[in-house]
Amino acid sequence: MAESYVTHEHDVVVIGAGGAGLRAAIEVSQSGASVAMICKSMLGKAHTVMAEGGAAAALGNADPRDNWQVHFRDTMKGGKYLNDWRMAEIHAREAADRIRELETWGAVFDRTPTGMTNQRNFGGHTYPRLAHIGDATGLELIRTLQEKGVHMGMEVYMEFTVRRLFQSDGRVTGCFAYDRNDGSLHVFRAKTIILATGGITRCWSVCSGSWEYTGEGHALAYWAGAEMGDMEFVQFHPTGMIWPPSVKGILVTEGVRGEGGMLTNSEGERFMFNYVPEMYKDEFADTEKEALEWVDEIIAGELATVRRPPELLTRDVVAKAINSERAAGRASEHGGVYLDISWRDEDQVKKKLPGMYHQFKELAAVDITKTPMEVGPTAHYVMGGVKVHHETQESSIAGLYAAGEAATGLHGANRLGGNSLTDLLVFGRIAGERAAAQASEIDGFVDIDEEEIADVIAETIAPLSREGGENPAKVVEDLREMMQEKVGIIRSRELLEESLHDLDELESRAASTSPGGSRIYNPGWHQALELSAMLDVSRMCALAALHREESRGAHTRGDFPDPDYEHWGKITSVITMKSNGSMSIEYSRYPPIDPELKSLLDTADLQERE
Ligand code: FUM
Repeated sequence: MAESYVTHEHDVVVIGAGGAGLRAAIEVSQSGASVAMICKSMLGKAHTVMAEGGAAAALGNADPRDNWQVHFRDTMKGGKYLNDWRMAEIHAREAADRIRELETWGAVFDRTPTGMTNQRNFGGHTYPRLAHIGDATGLELIRTLQEKGVHMGMEVYMEFTVRRLFQSDGRVTGCFAYDRNDGSLHVFRAKTIILATGGITRCWSVCSGSWEYTGEGHALAYWAGAEMGDMEFVQFHPTGMIWPPSVKGILVTEGVRGEGGMLTNSEGERFMFNYVPEMYKDEFADTEKEALEWVDEIIAGELATVRRPPELLTRDVVAKAINSERAAGRASEHGGVYLDISWRDEDQVKKKLPGMYHQFKELAAVDITKTPMEVGPTAHYVMGGVKVHHETQESSIAGLYAAGEAATGLHGANRLGGNSLTDLLVFGRIAGERAAAQASEIDGFVDIDEEEIADVIAETIAPLSREGGENPAKVVEDLREMMQEKVGIIRSRELLEESLHDLDELESRAASTSPGGSRIYNPGWHQALELSAMLDVSRMCALAALHREESRGAHTRGDFPDPDYEHWGKITSVITMKSNGSMSIEYSRYPPIDPELKSLLDTADLQERE
């Protein structure tokens, strides 16, 4: 007997309820179109909350020297010039408006003594630029957007996982999802779809993401035939918790370093002075004396006149430095390094970093106002994703849009901290506006082919009737360990080739897992299904990393340790699915940068890449 399913119709379907999805849904509702918000988890639970330290926007409140041009320059430099410069320009120009808009919707940012939105320092940003709410900025952002979205009338489907996008005549027509609670099956007919599913970092065993981050959005787009870009670039945030083992990977906000946190090794050396790259030599202190002067100026509320401390270098640089200290045998007691904010006034630490204070107190029995934290890199963000048009956020498939971490382009080879929150506000808004506009030009909903529906239903329920196979949780665990070891911070041809081979083996194991037969909240079944996405996104990362024979931003090859601007300087990887189901990798270039914008960039860096 054919399986029954429920049909829903919405002008626009938004998949993913993090900041990008919520911001997009608000824009769609504002246009008068009907919008469905499908989320894998409960509304309010999104990786956006892991952007703790702030949202980057050149408001110029904490330092009037800041403006969008400097923000643009910092974003391009931090991305090692692999960014889509057109997206970087839009982002830098619009970020401040999106923050101000959020305030009018009720977000309660920390204030300067004169009542302006306060801003803090973060890695790679020339001036204090991160609007923040203590160290819970992402949480406040989600709270604000969620309230606004619900009041605007979006219809929410919680705890639904989308398994396939439907297309007809080259454009999306809907999607298929199942309800994780009761196993019921659902077909959504839609005129346009926005992917705002966030990232993929659950594919690594040490990560800051929670269980939802298994890469379905990336996989859905890829399976539908969309172009995927820059998948070799996975960001390891330098500071995750490392002890006790049960909390390994949980984020320790960069805000700690923004408030003056110092990194030291087992010998008590403030090691970051040894790792300032050539391109940043003019901007970062090379002596402890100078770094301390900077801190004094900041604490006194003055404009910094000296170079920034090297703890505020970009994340790619700091994560690799920590890795090198560990490799050189100078790790902390549990295998990381020390991050010390205890030298600052206790009340200030508790006021500026309340989340970190409680996190360490409750999870690690460490009082950070008195004792250094132990930290190490944690997989945090993927710069790669669905390739989108810079002005519309539409993918290479008509009617399919992507925004936030699911999309690629803005961040190049490495994202600056705080740029994700304004990325999702700026481009979530644009995606919502454009998807609604396109939907308004389409008459009625397209019938979805019953055979295709039957096919995806069969695929979805198949694991339930498999017997005698492995527990899917074991395959997930092995995949995550393998990615951590072979597609981690430092890669090599040998490891990457092995990883691709391992992924093939894991795929055959995944095909015969047995999660048990119940459809009522069955985590094993969910994992058996998630594996298909995890395997393909992991493969995209490994393949793109194998081909890029240079080190750039978040992609480091031990066997090709330097950037190769001559060959790899300007090209970005594009992965698509071939007709036989295998992965194809090609390369593309962004158009030459507009001369006026080029004049904002650092001449010395540019010469290096010509
Ligand atoms: O460290 C943090 O607070 C993370 C911020 C971000 O990823 O943008």
